[in-house]
Amino acid sequence: MADAYRVAILTISTQGAAGNREDTSGEAIRALVEAEPLSARIVERAIVADDRAAIETTLREWADAGQAQLILTTGGTGLSPTDITPEATRAVFDREAPGIAEAMRAESLRHTPFGMLSRGVAGVRSATLIINLPGSPKGVRECLGAIMPALPHALDILTTRVRDHGPAAQG
Ligand code: MTE
Repeated sequence: MADAYRVAILTISTQGAAGNREDTSGEAIRALVEAEPLSARIVERAIVADDRAAIETTLREWADAGQAQLILTTGGTGLSPTDITPEATRAVFDREAPGIAEAMRAESLRHTPFGMLSRGVAGVRSATLIINLPGSPKGVRECLGAIMPALPHALDILTTRVRDHGPAAQG
């Protein structure tokens, strides 16, 4: 059996970082990634405030340590003046992967018109895929559900576990 996928979870919430709010969205992510098809192991988990420097520093440290193959953030993607997650995340990318965010927004709009209000981004820093999810457990479930079928293959390619896309992926 291949090694488990290694996932890190970063909750971005000023209230959460101050201990005033339970991290229900981080928990939703944990439950979803530990289940199939990822069957992931959580290698890092933290809560930071809506603070650009804190978000960038955490993402850089986690990606550059090479432990996490996938970093999922939750929160701070909207239009409120304090929402800074997409800007902080984009600043650490080597390459953006816009299709992942496009797929999440397309799915979100099937559930709520507010889906268009999430400005979340996705991209790669060295061999780590970083994806912004919205801040609610409902948004996490809907967005992660939309991209989950592609995540094992994305992580395999990123870490060169596969070089051949195989018959199923060729369509
Ligand atoms: N996407 C999905 N799939 N489901 C949702 O309920 N909520 C939206 C949106 N994306 C939502 C969603 C709402 S109400 C907001 S304000 C934005 O995500 C941004 O959320 P955030 O600032 O907590 O990241």
